[in-house]
Amino acid sequence: MEKILKVENIKKVFKVSGGLLKKDYSSVYAVKGANFEVDEGKTYGIVGESGSGKTTLARIILRLEKTDEGKITFLGKDFLSLKGKELKEARKNMQVVFQDPASSLDPKMTIGETVSEPLLIHKVGTKSQRKEKVIELLRTVGLDESFYSKFPYELSGGQKQRVGISRAIALNPKLIICDEPVSALDISIQAQILNLLKDLQESLKISYIFIAHSLDVVDYISDDVAVMLLGSFVETGSKESIFNNPLHPYTKLLIKSAPIADPRAKREKIEVEEEISSIPISGCPFYSRCSIRKEICSKEDAKLKEVEKNHFVACHSI
Ligand SMILES: Nc1ncnc2c1ncn2[C@@H]1O[C@H](COP(=O)(O)OP(=O)(O)O)[C@@H](O)[C@H]1O
Ligand SMILES: [Mg+2]
Repeated sequence: MEKILKVENIKKVFKVSGGLLKKDYSSVYAVKGANFEVDEGKTYGIVGESGSGKTTLARIILRLEKTDEGKITFLGKDFLSLKGKELKEARKNMQVVFQDPASSLDPKMTIGETVSEPLLIHKVGTKSQRKEKVIELLRTVGLDESFYSKFPYELSGGQKQRVGISRAIALNPKLIICDEPVSALDISIQAQILNLLKDLQESLKISYIFIAHSLDVVDYISDDVAVMLLGSFVETGSKESIFNNPLHPYTKLLIKSAPIADPRAKREKIEVEEEISSIPISGCPFYSRCSIRKEICSKEDAKLKEVEKNHFVACHSI
């Protein structure tokens, strides 16, 4: 199977100034060495609580943020060193759908203008051909022709996200990075959008990197999964291996505490820190919450090791 994307050893530290005189710096290790590959037509899910570094990693892959270290190979090319025409061509093949559909649409532009924009930038077709293409794209995502001349304020959240998706597929990309694309939507709408993304993947052979904080969502859409915590991938593998045989204590906790369909069955609620201001440089990111921790865990990061075919865990106790 062809690899669409290969991400190697991506690292990012943010220096944040603080204190009255802005002289004190603290470092936030947002991404601590991410490695993974995305196969053609498949979905790589990344799941983790808020502040784990998921968006930072996505922004680095999209080249919206510079990485401190590492390499990204996209469609066989060294993506981080591409420039000019080659970069523009590669960008055509890598699109994004953001969490908040409202803020990713310009309130002053009609839906038609918004979806035409990537076609215009890449000089696709004549004006009337572009209009035809946009109407076809809107239909593909389940919106009829009337949406062409509407403004974002006239649309519901789910409809706005459909527009975001139509824009992302406009140039027939090979890869779409979906950063929590359903997190802002009602549960019933979430399922519709997930099904739309699945259908598009099937008909257009697109690969996805799918970021979410909900295990259910990642379970539904992914082929491979990475569990991310405070900048580190703590467990990776096929969806089946992660969900049927979770090994890292953090993954186990996530699965145990995930919301379930039966409201009478109780599950433990996990503590979710909204924003983590300082991430330890070394040591396991789950150390403070772990029940099977050992002394070494506070000092040394555990490396991902393969425990069965396509199933890796970073834990000193396993
Ligand atoms: N531009 C930035 N400057 C400083 N810190 C940042 C910046 N962007 C993200 N961070 C920090 O990096 C960590 C990871 O954030 P983020 O990638 O947004 O996580 P997630 O998407 O998993 O919620 C957080 O602690 C966040 O506060
Ligand atoms: Mg995020």
